[in-house]
Amino acid sequence: MVQKDGLYVIMGLLDADSIAYAIGQEIQRWGGQVVYTVQNERLKRIFFDRSDKLTAEEKAALRIEFCDVTKEVEVRDLFERLGPVCGVVHSIAFANPKTCLGENIFTNAVDDLKNAFHISCASLATVAHYALPHLKNGGAILALTFESRKAFPFYNWMGVNKAALEALVRALARQYGHQLVRVNAISAGPLLTKAAKAIPHYSHLARVWRKMSPLPWDVMEDKTEVANAAAFLLGNLSKKITGQIIYVDGGASIVGGDLLPQERPHGEEEVHALAEQSGLTLSPE
Ligand SMILES: NC(=O)c1ccc[n+]([C@@H]2O[C@H](COP(=O)([O-])OP(=O)(O)OC[C@H]3O[C@@H](n4cnc5c(N)ncnc54)[C@H](O)[C@@H]3O)[C@@H](O)[C@H]2O)c1
Repeated sequence: MVQKDGLYVIMGLLDADSIAYAIGQEIQRWGGQVVYTVQNERLKRIFFDRSDKLTAEEKAALRIEFCDVTKEVEVRDLFERLGPVCGVVHSIAFANPKTCLGENIFTNAVDDLKNAFHISCASLATVAHYALPHLKNGGAILALTFESRKAFPFYNWMGVNKAALEALVRALARQYGHQLVRVNAISAGPLLTKAAKAIPHYSHLARVWRKMSPLPWDVMEDKTEVANAAAFLLGNLSKKITGQIIYVDGGASIVGGDLLPQERPHGEEEVHALAEQSGLTLSPE
């Protein structure tokens, strides 16, 4: 699995619900050291002030650096400060929900489109470029994506950015392979986080998963399954895997059409109970 005492940089911590946090926890469980990055000091303060999921001791134990991935100098300085690292996770995305997500894909908010692309896709190349000299004896870079081969309603420009991100993963894997650096992405099913809650009608996606996923999919608990796959892709058991999009989505992406009622892993009542526990209101069929 991950290298014992090796340093892993997990970029994109917002709060204890972030996928970044679940991945960091898993890496530590396997004996790795973790540095999280938070976009800026203000967001760290909000996390520390408002999050009641972690104790004061747990918060104090987190090693946190600041890095806005749209600021090249911050990315460069981050890796210079950290020295040798074994792996980097890019768990970052943003698109203005008012213009880039919603009912209508057309928008003339071109600056918002550029910003979404910069943060959600192009920044992976910046991160990889500045991480490279510090990934001694090879290492792994991992991004987080969402099924981009299908068009989901409301996901609009984020879907486009995820398709571009996946293409970038392949391009980086090709370029860095000779330096023994691997680049992969996990395509996760819908998980309840701050970013997800910003997607209009997010519960629609959760409902789609209920109809399409042959394995039961839990929007809260399955962050751990994503984190398990991340530890595998960052570690030494996946040394010949690069440029791949690994689907940790309960199998939803391989199903044609809706599952038949007898193929559905959850009964209707159980799904609603699960959704309620996770703070989700499921939209009607
Ligand atoms: N939640 C889901 O359903 C789901 C499913 C598949 C993939 N993903 C992907 O997982 C990744 C993590 O998202 P999450 O769901 O954990 O949500 P999250 O809101 O916890 O994390 C998103 C992070 O992106 C950071 N970010 C935004 N702009 C930034 C910038 N300029 N510089 C640095 N950081 C910036 C935010 O501060 C936040 O920490 C994203 O790439 C997301 O698209 C999420």
